[in-house]
Amino acid sequence: MSQRVTAVVAADLAGAIGKQGGLPWHLPDDLRFFMRYTLGKPVLMGRKTFESIGSKPLKNRLNLVLSSRAIEVEGVIWVKTLDQALQHSQGEAELIVAGGAGIYALAEPILTDVRMTRVQAKVSVADTFFPINLDSKNWILKETEAHGMDERHALAFDFEWWVQTKPETASHA
Ligand SMILES: NC(=O)c1ccc[n+]([C@@H]2O[C@H](COP(=O)([O-])OP(=O)(O)OC[C@H]3O[C@@H](n4cnc5c(N)ncnc54)[C@H](OP(=O)(O)O)[C@@H]3O)[C@@H](O)[C@H]2O)c1
Repeated sequence: MSQRVTAVVAADLAGAIGKQGGLPWHLPDDLRFFMRYTLGKPVLMGRKTFESIGSKPLKNRLNLVLSSRAIEVEGVIWVKTLDQALQHSQGEAELIVAGGAGIYALAEPILTDVRMTRVQAKVSVADTFFPINLDSKNWILKETEAHGMDERHALAFDFEWWVQTKPETASHA
């Protein structure tokens, strides 16, 4: 069975994804999208992203945390390499790559999909950026859905679904 490998990310118009160990914005409907989309799926994240969510596993998901140093938290599987993460997610239809920057870059060669929440702004201060160029040679925008500003969301954003066009990448397993 071929496995989809999907990066899920929220980035602004300059590619910013993080600020001082957290997110540069508060967008509850984007967090809700992340929680719904990833439910029941294996989720791979870097050690710093894991710390940014309180060093606790996400419920009802296989939590795979990448670090060079042992992580001993109940409900978390420590992985040292991308290959180990792939082994743990074998047989699952989709592996989620939840960041941060280095983890997206590491997984880029095997990504089949990107679920990008494109925040329609350029935040003034950020220190972490999405490293993948969703260029038209390799990626096609399959779907997009706009979310406007409202009393809970100070910024507008679009839910974008990008799909890899290179056939050999679309089935690594
Ligand atoms: N907007 C979004 O969608 C989004 C998503 C995720 C994260 N973020 C933000 O991004 C920031 C965190 O991202 P980050 O890029 O700084 O850190 P990160 O990718 O979450 O974690 C980096 C750590 O992962 C481990 N790691 C990375 N590559 C590895 C490899 N090849 N082998 C073994 N271990 C490896 C290392 O841990 P050790 O040092 O322990 O070895 C490294 O220090 C936060 O601000 C977070 O809020 C935003």
